[in-house]
Amino acid sequence: MKGFQNHLILFVCIVCIIIPTKSIAREYTQSILSQSKLVEAKFILQQDGLAFWTLKYRGDTIFNYSSLGYVLEGNDSLNRFRWIKNKTNYKNENWKPVWGQSSLIKNEFNEIKIELRDFKGRLLNFYMRVYDDGFAFRYEIPNQSGLNDIVIMSEESRMSFNGKYECWWSWADYNTLEKLFYHTSIDSATHVATPFTLKRSNNVYLSIHEAAIENYSTMTLKREGDKDHDFKVNLVPWADGTLVKAKTPMLSPWRAIILADKPGGLIESNLILNLNDTCQIKDVSWIKPMTYVGIWWEMHLGISQWIPGKNHGATTENAKRYIDFASKHNVKGVLIEGWNTGWENWGKKDAFDFVTPYKDFNIKEVTNYAKSKNIEIIGHHETGGDTESYEKHIEEAFASYKMLGINIVKTGYAGPVVPVGEYHHGQCMVMHYNKVMRLAAKYKLMLDVHEPIVLSGLSRAFPNLMTAEGVRGMEWNAWSDGNLPSHTCTLPFTRGIAGPMDYTPGIFDIDLSSHSGERVKWNSLDNGNSAVHSTIANQLALMLVLYSPLQMASDLPENYEGNKAFAFIENLPTSWDESKVIDASIGEYIIIARRKENNWFVGAITNEYKRELTISFSFLENNKEYNAVIYADGNDADFEKNPESILINELKINSTDSVTIKLARGGGACLKIELVK
Ligand code: NOJ
Ligand code: CA
Repeated sequence: MKGFQNHLILFVCIVCIIIPTKSIAREYTQSILSQSKLVEAKFILQQDGLAFWTLKYRGDTIFNYSSLGYVLEGNDSLNRFRWIKNKTNYKNENWKPVWGQSSLIKNEFNEIKIELRDFKGRLLNFYMRVYDDGFAFRYEIPNQSGLNDIVIMSEESRMSFNGKYECWWSWADYNTLEKLFYHTSIDSATHVATPFTLKRSNNVYLSIHEAAIENYSTMTLKREGDKDHDFKVNLVPWADGTLVKAKTPMLSPWRAIILADKPGGLIESNLILNLNDTCQIKDVSWIKPMTYVGIWWEMHLGISQWIPGKNHGATTENAKRYIDFASKHNVKGVLIEGWNTGWENWGKKDAFDFVTPYKDFNIKEVTNYAKSKNIEIIGHHETGGDTESYEKHIEEAFASYKMLGINIVKTGYAGPVVPVGEYHHGQCMVMHYNKVMRLAAKYKLMLDVHEPIVLSGLSRAFPNLMTAEGVRGMEWNAWSDGNLPSHTCTLPFTRGIAGPMDYTPGIFDIDLSSHSGERVKWNSLDNGNSAVHSTIANQLALMLVLYSPLQMASDLPENYEGNKAFAFIENLPTSWDESKVIDASIGEYIIIARRKENNWFVGAITNEYKRELTISFSFLENNKEYNAVIYADGNDADFEKNPESILINELKINSTDSVTIKLARGGGACLKIELVK
């Protein structure tokens, strides 16, 4: 009886929020409201068969009539429809991710599937979902006679913004996501990668991205003509100029728009994950978030090399040194790059051997040593972009790692894509990355993907896809003009919306000038003056601000040893029960608090300007006492003049307290707050 009542309530609820109307203009329209009525999406079918969507947030129109449809091969438009029927769906669930920024995720939405038939009789379904924190739509081309193979030449989805916006965007490059972000008015954004983040003049924040990219190409957004506010979905093409090759039934990725009243709301939203499938891996006990160090930064600095010789980085001895450091300081993993033969051929076809170690690297001895110290080795497969070669050897390579007890693989695609002519972010590569993800799951391997396609929340279904680069990360500080502090103040609201980021923070030896003579010049951007543009306190805070379940402390053991600030990284959790953005202004500063069981960790960073930030501890449990260790910039700290000055203080606090902390230029602060038992 109770079940029946629940169903009845649910039915009444759905009937209340779906309001079908037929307007006098003989258009067919269908509105759908989110549960708290914050978000309202509308589907509109004009008399001429053209279809559109619009979107309101808190009653304001955010998107005007925005078109829908496709153009298929042969200039065959699939964009004039007749309405057949609708199907509604309401879901309200709480699900537990294997790892993440919170341990329980609410997923409540209203969905409508609108079944359409085009003027040539072909079926297409259009899905719209509304959440209180956003909206998403996708297409489905069902299995039907006469339509088996589909070649998409244009996705006719448009986003027609209503109002005035400022935005944070990076140039839509089909081959790399390692970009700086521009902060401009929407009028200056011409061709953007997603996540594309905007602030409306009425202080509504938006981030546009896509979810569940499978068997499709990745999306960029291109401004149309001289209409300032109209963007069209622009898919990254195949080498032959087509955009997507598919078979029916075909499901497009979701086109998603996160909506929030504060910048922090964009980070706290789980929309991208919620739009993905539930977990497809039955036994997830082998998937473990962790911090790691590795034979990595020393190569980027030029102190050692991936290639054997006088300064080979991945020697048995050096690997053991990192394992000893990790074990002594409660860091769980050690990454080893440059261990396998082929680095001397980087850039050539079939360059890398994914199973044979160099002579000075005894992989069995190293993995046994790691096991004896309870340390996970993070293996490395650099492909140079040669996916053909990698796919040929991948199963053997995964099996061989697994035999050695290696459970995590960092992959890399630094180089032009093979098959020659394919773009890094086109459908060909989407299929490759997703194949690797599934194969890794089969071998119970966790993945950290460098030079990836943009993340789209697939780690809900495949939580072994732990993290990815796809960001202009720390390595750029070693061999280019580097990243200003405002870059890391922008990333959580832009790149971070897509998913975890292997930025590899945690550098303590900030002034790199002593290494400039040794450095291998990787590119013409290296003028010999490279530096990490932040203070040490900022580097520590990045471990919290830039979320990744595999979080690297990227400096060398000798730069950490003896520095009290490293205590913050020891035993640092990388999966959280709760995460709250306390305060933020995109590109300027952010304060984020993350809870693990009874303890809280707070990270704050600022851009090139120093500032004072007040952190209220009202997020702590009432009537409980906590011990807080504060790592803050020294009074004389400055990212350019005195980056290594740091102050460490301890104090007792409770939920009624607050603290005001001075952040230096390029500075930061972090707090470890433990419940006093
Ligand atoms: C670029 C990756 O981002 C970096 O982490 C790696 O060390 C090099 N490629 C070599 O694989
Ligand atoms: Ca890279």
